[in-house]
Parts: sequence; structure tokens; C-alpha cells
Amino acid sequence: MNLSALNTTALAMVAPGKGILAADESTGTIKKRFDAIKVESTEQNRRDYREMLFRSEGMSFISGVILYDETIRQHAADGTPLVKLIEAAGAIPGIKVDEGTQPLSGCPGERVTVGLDRLADRLATYYALGARFAKWRAVIDIDKDNIPSMTAIHVNAHALGRYAALCQAANIVPIVEPEVLMDGDHDIGRCFDVTRRVLNEVFRELRIQRVALEGMILKPNMAVAGKQSPDQAGVQEVAERTVQLLKECVPAAVPGIAFLSGGQSDESATAHLDAMNRLGPLPWKLTFSYGRALQAAPQQAWAGRTANIPAGQRAFTHRARMNALASRGQWTAALEKEAA
Ligand code: 13P
Repeated sequence: MNLSALNTTALAMVAPGKGILAADESTGTIKKRFDAIKVESTEQNRRDYREMLFRSEGMSFISGVILYDETIRQHAADGTPLVKLIEAAGAIPGIKVDEGTQPLSGCPGERVTVGLDRLADRLATYYALGARFAKWRAVIDIDKDNIPSMTAIHVNAHALGRYAALCQAANIVPIVEPEVLMDGDHDIGRCFDVTRRVLNEVFRELRIQRVALEGMILKPNMAVAGKQSPDQAGVQEVAERTVQLLKECVPAAVPGIAFLSGGQSDESATAHLDAMNRLGPLPWKLTFSYGRALQAAPQQAWAGRTANIPAGQRAFTHRARMNALASRGQWTAALEKEAA
């Protein structure tokens, strides 16, 4: 393991004014996104869509792109590997390496993320294809009082630790993503408590499995109320409670924290990140690693039509710029109204 190289990559992933584009939707998930805009999910359409993003001006706000197995092997229409397009735009290619979730036996309504089998071999292949960081998403189901169980938290944290250790042995920076879902009618206090338990268990496992904190990035959820809760927290409360949570649980040796958007609206995801970065000096960089909150707008604008590529690129560039400003605490709602 080359810790200095891992630390250099991790710092570049959270470079000031930049964040990560999560474009690693599995074949099933991208089909859902394409269904919503009435585009058939063929290999070529998936390539054309992602090529549109990687060739857009918005890439100047992107430090790294998380890819899916199909995408890291694909070539643009002119034959250039998509990985080379990303590098040419000054961003680092990354790869999702988890293989989704399975029901957790004995724990109704809960899941465990799988994909550790042969992971060391797959990481070596991905490194050769150009990946310098990876992502593993642990999904933590939550309700008002029963779940998550200790079992679900433990098995998912253990897998994150194992994944992170294998990544570092392969000189790949692990993005450690424990996602406490927004689905449900729980309030922000419940999300705060559950996320604290999860993060504490994740960092316990990272220590036990000898993961170098300097060579990783944390990708957590924010402390927010469940989507179905009548009691939605305001922007300032989300920001303050999330930062309080991170200060309690995340050692300062971690170079950066790149949030998931998790189903927040585009503007909420930006406003929350901005409000956190206005809270004063923090031990780590706080930025974005958004999927939906960066891509919903360009997907709508593109709608699968070649003629709409410039509009799709403008929509992506606008969201990337808004989030880049938020990563510096320099975003305002008025800027949203500027033409995309
Ligand atoms: P969202 O921002 O849409 O939650 O996606 C980020 C991600 O990579 C989830 O694993």
C-alpha cells in the first residue's frame, strides 16, 4: 500500500471548489431513470448519455467520477475510452465495486450489501482500467423505533471495513458509504441517532481492519427527517445537526466527506451543503458526491435526443457549478435563477 499516493488522491477528490459525480447507476437503476424520461435503456443510449456529461463544461467542477462496470470499459462515439475523457477533463475515474444488496436473514426489512467475493482480483482489473478510487454503498433501513438492528449495522460496517482494506491494498482510495435511508416517517432526531450509531460502528471496523484514515473518503447521508415525516427540518437545522454528528464521529485524519443526495431535491442538496460550509472551520473538507441531485436536471433536458445535448450539458454544468459554490459556502438561492 502506498499511503502517500492514496492520501494525494483522496485530497484531490475533495479539492476546493470541486466534488464528485456519482454516475455509477447499475443497469437496473439507470433503466429506472431512463424510463422516467421515456428513453430506452440500451448500451448505446447509456454511453451517449454519459458521454454527454463527461464532455460538458461542468466537468471543471468535478474532481472524480464514479463509474459502473459497463461504463469504465466503454468508448465514446469517436472511439476514445470514456475513462480518457474523464482524465482529459481533469477528473479522476472511480468505480462502484459493491454488487447491490440482499435481504439480511433473520432481520425482516433489512439488507446487507454484497460483493466481497473475488474483490481483490476485481480491484486489480479496475486499477489497470484507470480507476484510482472505488465506492461501496451500505444501505441502512430505518423506521421510527425498530430498525436498524444491531445485526444490520454490524454486518454492513464489517463489509465496509473489509472492502476499504482491500481497496487500500490495491492502491485504490475507498469511498466508504454508509447510507441511512430517507424513506420513512421518522424525524431528524431519529436519523441523527441512527446515523451516529452507524458511523461509530463503521469507524470501529475501519480501525479493527487497519484502514488508513488518511487514504479514504467518507460518503454519508445528512441528518434529515424521513421523506414521509410531517416534521421536516429547515436548512439550518440539517446543517447544524449534520456537522455536530460528523464532529462526534469522524476523526480529523479523514481528508474529506462527500455527501450523497439520497433523494433530496436538487436545490435542498445544494442548500444543505452550502449551509454546512458556512459553519466555520471544520477538520475535513465537505463536498458533494451526488447522483440524482446532479443528474435529474440534465436527464430531463436531454430526454434521449441528440439535438438536446447542449441543453443537457448546460443543465449539468449549472448544477455542478451550484454545488461547487456550496462546497465553498458561496452559494445563494438567487444564483439558482441564473440561466442554466
Ligand atoms: P444519490 O446522490 O442519488 O444518493 O447517489 C449517490 C450515490 O452514489 C449513492 O450510492
